[in-house]
Amino acid sequence: MSFCLRKLLVKLVIMNKLVFPENFFWGSATSAHQIEGNNNNDWSEWEKSESRVSELRSRGLKPEDFISGKACDSYNKYREDIDIAKSLGHNMHRFSVEWSRIEPEEGNFDFNAIQHYKELVKYMKDRGIEPMVTLWHFTNPFWFSKDGGWASPKSPERFVRFIKVVVDNFSGLGVRYWATFNEALSVYIGFAYLKGVWPPQYKDPKKFLKARENILRAHTLAYRMIKDSYGAKTDLGGRDQGMTSHNVEVGLIENNSYVPEAKGLIRNWMRGKYKKIRNFYFFDKAAPHYDFIGLNYYNIDRKPFFGDKNEILQDQEVNPEMNWELYPPGIYHCLVDLKKYNKPIFITENGIADSSDQKRVKFIKDHLTWVHKAINDGVDVRGYLYWSLLDNFEWHHGFSPRFGLVEVDYKTFERRIRQSAFKYKRICEINSLEI
Ligand code: GCO
Repeated sequence: MSFCLRKLLVKLVIMNKLVFPENFFWGSATSAHQIEGNNNNDWSEWEKSESRVSELRSRGLKPEDFISGKACDSYNKYREDIDIAKSLGHNMHRFSVEWSRIEPEEGNFDFNAIQHYKELVKYMKDRGIEPMVTLWHFTNPFWFSKDGGWASPKSPERFVRFIKVVVDNFSGLGVRYWATFNEALSVYIGFAYLKGVWPPQYKDPKKFLKARENILRAHTLAYRMIKDSYGAKTDLGGRDQGMTSHNVEVGLIENNSYVPEAKGLIRNWMRGKYKKIRNFYFFDKAAPHYDFIGLNYYNIDRKPFFGDKNEILQDQEVNPEMNWELYPPGIYHCLVDLKKYNKPIFITENGIADSSDQKRVKFIKDHLTWVHKAINDGVDVRGYLYWSLLDNFEWHHGFSPRFGLVEVDYKTFERRIRQSAFKYKRICEINSLEI
């Protein structure tokens, strides 16, 4: 038995609970397009497009169930949502700013939209909730996607011009945690530029490679711009609530899956190669330009060419609303894998779509047990953000998967806190998992 495992067992017996490090962040995550409502971007255009509507009809589905529309009306109800997060013991909240609202036409910025996000940040800070701002979460202004999207050589500069306006205007609010891209290389470009599942629905390896290169460049430029901008403020006396280029943290969020062990040397070699592209590509290429890693962990990713398609792992479960293979120990393996980058890690998403709310508590506890073990084994994990605070628009799956700690009635926009949210609240408040 390893030293760490023994240490863990001693803790279990003596204290009957797993204690998380001091100042650990607890909370949840959301993204603009999935909750705000009334967005006008490349996604909202695509949701209503003829090809999408007829594709859904041909599958016997109702197109209106796949249109983000008013979503959770969170753009208007954000105070209620943050009050709920506060009442649930959260001390961090991750949200995203919507580019298409801030820059509806190229070069024209809407300062009312910026004001809205400033108020959202202030509302959180006043309630002791640390904001983590995601600058890009899958959606683009329509003008941007019409003019080549991420495959355009102009895309990195366009992105940085947009976020500079956000960063400059957020000055003085004391935002410490910034994430540039959410799952851009591990999920987005594959779906949008190679598999043709998400807008702009390309199946074009050339465009895929271009988009990948441009996003990488955009990240690095964004990282430097944000750090420089806080550096300049330091020279001006560090007026942004003590935030300087040294303590402002700019991170990168990717979705890493557990790739099961393979049998045999060659298959294992292929597994390693696959993991490198699937889980590590962005972190490898962008290094050293990030201060923290955001890990979104959900499920197992099997590949028939080197994995056993039918092997059921111990502790494996199924998420029926997403048809995902859940595997709580996988979060441990993903965390240990990321240790090599020597950066603090936030679990920026982890969640289950479970409208019955029967499986959510077990899901959270099982994953946290493995997160705790990773911490005991020396992984620097700083926080856990459940996905998601609210039920929301789950991209091409529409509204049926229910990930929320809070149930949303999409007709009345009434919020109802699920029982699991109260169980999670206890964990957040005592900074421990009782077992
Ligand atoms: C993603 C996103 C979220 C999803 C969540 C559940 O991973 O696709 O970051 O927007 O809603 O992961 O699928």
